[in-house]
Amino acid sequence: MKRVLFVDDESNILSGLRRTLRPLHKEWDMVFVTSGKDALLLMDKQPFDVIVSDMRMPIMNGVQLLKEVKERFPATLRIILSGYAETETTLESTHVAHQFLAKPCSVATLQSTVNQTTALCGMLANQHLVSIISHFDSLPSLPRLYVEVTDELNSPSGSLERVGKIMAKDVAMTAKILQLVNSAFFGLPQHVSSSSQAVNLLGIDVVRGLVLSTKVFSSFDQDAQAGIDLDSLWEHSAITGVLAKQIAASEGMNRTLQENAFLGGMMHDIGKLVLAVGLPDESSKVAELVATEDLLSWEAEQRILGCTHAEIGSYLLGLWGLPGAVVASVAFHHQPGLAKNDSFSTTTAVHAANALLHDREESDVEHRTPRLDLDYLQQLAITANVSTWRKAQQALVS
Ligand SMILES: [Fe+2]
Ligand SMILES: [Fe+2]
Repeated sequence: MKRVLFVDDESNILSGLRRTLRPLHKEWDMVFVTSGKDALLLMDKQPFDVIVSDMRMPIMNGVQLLKEVKERFPATLRIILSGYAETETTLESTHVAHQFLAKPCSVATLQSTVNQTTALCGMLANQHLVSIISHFDSLPSLPRLYVEVTDELNSPSGSLERVGKIMAKDVAMTAKILQLVNSAFFGLPQHVSSSSQAVNLLGIDVVRGLVLSTKVFSSFDQDAQAGIDLDSLWEHSAITGVLAKQIAASEGMNRTLQENAFLGGMMHDIGKLVLAVGLPDESSKVAELVATEDLLSWEAEQRILGCTHAEIGSYLLGLWGLPGAVVASVAFHHQPGLAKNDSFSTTTAVHAANALLHDREESDVEHRTPRLDLDYLQQLAITANVSTWRKAQQALVS
């Protein structure tokens, strides 16, 4: 049973919610309160898995409440519920809310948002890590791209097209903008998986507000996070995205699935950034272990943290509501067999792209690198296609 806490100052809205959500009483243990103060008092007594808060409330509004929850109960999933008229304020809540819903919200939307977001909860046994990941409202960007995007938005002739292109090159910006645009708040019929499409949907004014006033992005501080080489991580991420998309295309996947493959490839190692920023000490220990015992990075992470950058990255993206196929491809990029797909999928494309690129990069070095999972490819009966994928990889890196 998931424990879900609803907060709204209007008691008739709460009783409406209570009535409409009655069919879920076997799945969710629901509590309804009319103020932020009461919500915090209850949370002090017993933790909740999810909090769904109204935006506009007297004394303590939704943002203030969720800010408090973020500090005191970081592992709780935070959802804000607000009206369309409050789009700007809603976007300001992006520093404290994982998901945004628009009023009135149907049972189905609420149910799928909570279920999809909490689906990954059991995946990370390390509670300390769960708290750290839940605390992130954004990740740092490559400084060069951060400057480029703010310059473009500050310029009177700034264009959405260029903004979209810059964002598409940055792992952190892409993840964040897709979190916003994919939230149920915007009620889009389909998942959006490209930054260009995302900024087009939001419009220049909203994007400007988000980046320049709300400051949803930040610049990576290489001195503070010495343990990670962001430039090469970004380069590897970008090329994995391109190759994953080409592999998906060569397998005859449609445009949407190709976009998902690109996004999955781009995001696959985002967990490494989460680790470097959120747990810098453990991150350096991982690097040490990789060097001394010739382990793959995820094997070393498994030993030190009990989980890997793949699980960490997918947990964050799941919490942010990115498309499920993308989240799965990130989770299983090293061990695609665990995804339990019986045909070619986004996960296959991302796994293959990453393995082929690592394999090549390190071929002249004396230590282990991620490899293609041939048993898995054999089960899908697509081993014969590897030579085509390898050619695509060679053309890309030559
Ligand atoms: Fe990886
Ligand atoms: Fe990788």
